Amino acid sequence: MGDQIDGLIDELTLAEKVSLTHGAVDPDGRATGYIPGVERLDIPPLGMVDGPLGVRIPGESSTAFPAPLALAATFDVDLATEFGTALGRETRGKGQDVLLAPGVNLIRVPNNGRNFEYFSEDPVHAAAFSAAVVEGIQSMDVIATPKHYVANNQERERASIDVQVGERALRELYLPAFEAAVDVGAGSVMTAYNTVNGTRMSDHDRLINTVLKGEFGFEGYTVSDWFGTESASAAVNGGLDVEMPGISMEEMVAPMAEDDGEASADDGGVEAPTDAMSDDEEEGETMPEEVANGMPDPETCERFAETLADAVEAGEVPEERLDDAVSRVLGQMDRVGMFDGDRVEGDVDTDAHRDLTERVAARGTVLLENDGILPIEEDADVALIGPNVDEAILGGGGSSETSPVVESVPADAVAERADGDVDVVRGLPRVVGVSLMDYLSGDTDLEPDGEVAIDAATDAATDAEVAVVLARDVATEALDRESLSLPDRQDELIEAVADANDRTVVVLNTSGPVETPWREDVAAIVENWYPGQAHGDAIAAVLYGDHDPAGRLPVTFAPEATYPTADERRFPGVDGQVHYDEGVFVGYRHFDRIESQPTYPFGHGLSYADFEYVDASIDGETATVTIENVAERDGREVVQAYVRPPAIDGIDRPERELAGFAAIEVPAGERVTAEIDLGSRAFARYDDGDGWTVDSGEYVVEIGRSARDSRLERSIER
Ligand code: BGC
Repeated sequence: MGDQIDGLIDELTLAEKVSLTHGAVDPDGRATGYIPGVERLDIPPLGMVDGPLGVRIPGESSTAFPAPLALAATFDVDLATEFGTALGRETRGKGQDVLLAPGVNLIRVPNNGRNFEYFSEDPVHAAAFSAAVVEGIQSMDVIATPKHYVANNQERERASIDVQVGERALRELYLPAFEAAVDVGAGSVMTAYNTVNGTRMSDHDRLINTVLKGEFGFEGYTVSDWFGTESASAAVNGGLDVEMPGISMEEMVAPMAEDDGEASADDGGVEAPTDAMSDDEEEGETMPEEVANGMPDPETCERFAETLADAVEAGEVPEERLDDAVSRVLGQMDRVGMFDGDRVEGDVDTDAHRDLTERVAARGTVLLENDGILPIEEDADVALIGPNVDEAILGGGGSSETSPVVESVPADAVAERADGDVDVVRGLPRVVGVSLMDYLSGDTDLEPDGEVAIDAATDAATDAEVAVVLARDVATEALDRESLSLPDRQDELIEAVADANDRTVVVLNTSGPVETPWREDVAAIVENWYPGQAHGDAIAAVLYGDHDPAGRLPVTFAPEATYPTADERRFPGVDGQVHYDEGVFVGYRHFDRIESQPTYPFGHGLSYADFEYVDASIDGETATVTIENVAERDGREVVQAYVRPPAIDGIDRPERELAGFAAIEVPAGERVTAEIDLGSRAFARYDDGDGWTVDSGEYVVEIGRSARDSRLERSIER
């Protein structure tokens, strides 16, 4: 096909080439990004849709998958491949070609409004999930788009913030998930809005041309984040291949507004939110200013269409560079079978996808604490409490919002699963999520419903044998969480219920870490993330013990003030710059360094079973570990291997770093042996001068249940 693509390039006019490098209006009003084809040369159009939690098309339904953070909490990469495959199948089922997923940015800031879309605070863990999800998506003849390249680790001022980050942190923390995606053949990479060390990511010659395309060998096309391109020449010369969306905000949101039965672009109905995203006087008219602050400038939308042809003619952009950009797009279209018509069939909302959503949501649920109350006895009378207990938490706000065909709601699912009585009380007005898509389409009716009825909740708790309180946070694209405390009066509700009944279980539906000030007063805490459409069935299955909650934390839970980003220079930044002064000491690497015990460490998660670590050996890059389930029920364990490097004067390294992990099913009373691939960089550090370097000395491999729970240690010389 290489020759055929070269042939097409020869036939294309300059205007046609340019038209293949930027978005246009989808005549069907479905794709979020749309490149029209060239009919006379039989080049079909290319349709791009979001996103990491499922396919989003205005006015259409598809499976609402659990948040990627919940998937990552399974530590189960085979499940991640299955998840990616299902996402790809739905993308094809909708007749689209490109999925704008996965989101692979490292979780640096616990407050980041998009953490639910991402995988991990650890680069090895994030890279494993990035590769598995990309492989799954692409196995369905869909182009995956790992995003947002790179160092897009906060939403606040995301379109303008300048990230000041050192080379070592980029290499050790922020780049590996992208590199892993490239290694498995990712067809596209989306550039981030932010600048890195002073250069806009969509123009970043060094990070795109030299690192991504050169060193990593990326052969697909790069695409800007929506409205994230400032200049055609700088971007194309810097390695950007496609500008999106290439149309105005009005044109882009028109299908959304029509879908809501709201006014359309034609009668001005979307003008208010559009204004809210520009700098003019009316800013924030319908969109709160803090959300508008996280949005890009919608005026920067047609740079390629307006100026690229002239720039090529004037010699500012070499025509070979334009040809390369077009070949990259055509090459990916060819790879997924768009020229020969031989493509995998897709499907949407299948039984298998419904089942998968429940399996991921249940398996990714993390049992943070359990004094033995869980699983709940079948016949116990339960008070089920929480402001949102009658809805499924599908995700956070923004481009990843999904609309499922079916939803299972905790109140119904628990009542169905329990043999005892279930008394459902909300206790507080509904905690309302910010829907960025509603803001964009002009529908801003976000009034909470319900009333404060904490007494009714405590009465129900007093009468019940077990009280279960569901609490949630609110997170969205374009906005970071103001604090890690649960919003509204949920902490007060939990305290009151725990006071009334000492058999209280708290279920958290959150986008990342939250403060748990009542943790000493409750009998169990379960982190259930944003579980998607199977919320009710998944949490009922975990609470009643049908599934072992096999999730482990992909993010450290700690008091907000103790994270490395608690300093305003580091987050949200000062004078338009955010300084990654902590270097490689992010997440558990930081808590180890400051010798502070987090509330719940990275990798933590209890089980209904009980595991003993029997034996371990290291051979080359493989750790072989035998564990025994000494409980009377089957369980799933996540075996984790961390490497502790030798102390060497003048070399500042994390105390320990995750090298590999394995999620395994262990039947009651049995022993299972797992193999963990430690990866070629397990012992290396990135040296600014010499690149990846392994220092000689004695390394200790810690095998255990979390970053703070080592069960077996083996030393090896390197
Ligand atoms: C988001 C991307 C998304 C794109 C298209 C942007 O605002 O940052 O993640 O894919 O919109 O919806």
